[in-house]
Amino acid sequence: MKIDGQAWRTIWLEEGGRSVGVIDQTLLPHRFTTRSLSSCDEAAEAIRTMVVRGAPLIGVTGAYGLMLALQVDPSDAALAAAFEQLNATRPTAVNLRWALERVRDRVAPLAPEQRAEAAQSEAAAIADEDVAMCEAIGDHGLAIFQELAAARPGQTFNVLTHCNAGWLATVDWGTALAPIYKAHRAGLDIHVWVDETRPRNQGASLTAYELGREGVPHTVIVDNAGGHLMQHGQVDAVIVGTDRTTRRGDVCNKIGTYLKALAARDNNVPFYVALPASTIDWQIDDGVAEIPIEARSPEEVTHIQGRSPDGQITSVQLSPDGSPGFNPAFDVTPARLVTALITERGVVAASAEGLQELYADV
Ligand code: MRU
Repeated sequence: MKIDGQAWRTIWLEEGGRSVGVIDQTLLPHRFTTRSLSSCDEAAEAIRTMVVRGAPLIGVTGAYGLMLALQVDPSDAALAAAFEQLNATRPTAVNLRWALERVRDRVAPLAPEQRAEAAQSEAAAIADEDVAMCEAIGDHGLAIFQELAAARPGQTFNVLTHCNAGWLATVDWGTALAPIYKAHRAGLDIHVWVDETRPRNQGASLTAYELGREGVPHTVIVDNAGGHLMQHGQVDAVIVGTDRTTRRGDVCNKIGTYLKALAARDNNVPFYVALPASTIDWQIDDGVAEIPIEARSPEEVTHIQGRSPDGQITSVQLSPDGSPGFNPAFDVTPARLVTALITERGVVAASAEGLQELYADV
């Protein structure tokens, strides 16, 4: 995607692979800054502090983190330690474990001196595949949007999304936003309701930023407005991403997604989840019982970050001194509330049978 006419990916190699460049997402939308990650520690810290975030991008950053670790020490012990360090940074998005396992399994059989280079090529392949998968999700989602919009000729097609599942959350294109970009480029009259997505406001900060840069009409709303808009016929479809999808199609996404799915069901609004295969956890069925939900700092609830009138990025306290906060970062939407899964291989029912149909070879 482009920023001010220049094409960007969210992650790239620098100095022939001695460091990795990323966009610092903690400062968006107010400041566009890039950072260089030169060690496994720095990669782990960038994931933990959400300099990089979004399930697919966390996975790619983890993969490059292993490469950086192996450049310093390619031993079995160092590989295992770096794997554990990176995997512990964020527990919910399964892409991280998936990408780390993929790099580890590629390099482990090799002689130590070959490992860093092999890790680099595997991480780069994961990144390139992510771009291709997200673009394919965009094409499959576009077909759905075109069909839904055709049923309401002459009217703006209104889509609601939660959190940021755009190109900033992936390497390029995004998951839930890819069909939106495709639709906008195809000339569909599309408008996006952007949930602000408390507590970290990935919607207000990142999705709105992305859509604005691409010229996609959008409006930021508070998280609690979606149900009201659906009751009044102002939402034609909901589309979100997922950090972990179970074998039977339960989806775990940013906190608040479940409430949107409930409201969508009550109002007959289709609820789509866009995902690449790297987000499917084939080891579990019951998302509510089995997916570890990250609990982040209560300070993200009791405080809020923004730009002050003098241009400083600053944090202010919302709640009284001493009031505790609780901050579960994700929730699970059961498969029964999902209209369909939009994957890189096509669109299927959120069910074990649906996923098997597409991924029998996995
Ligand atoms: O906590 P974050 O910002 O990493 O959460 C991101 C999301 O919840 C996205 O919707 C998810 O990663 C899927 S999209 C690419």
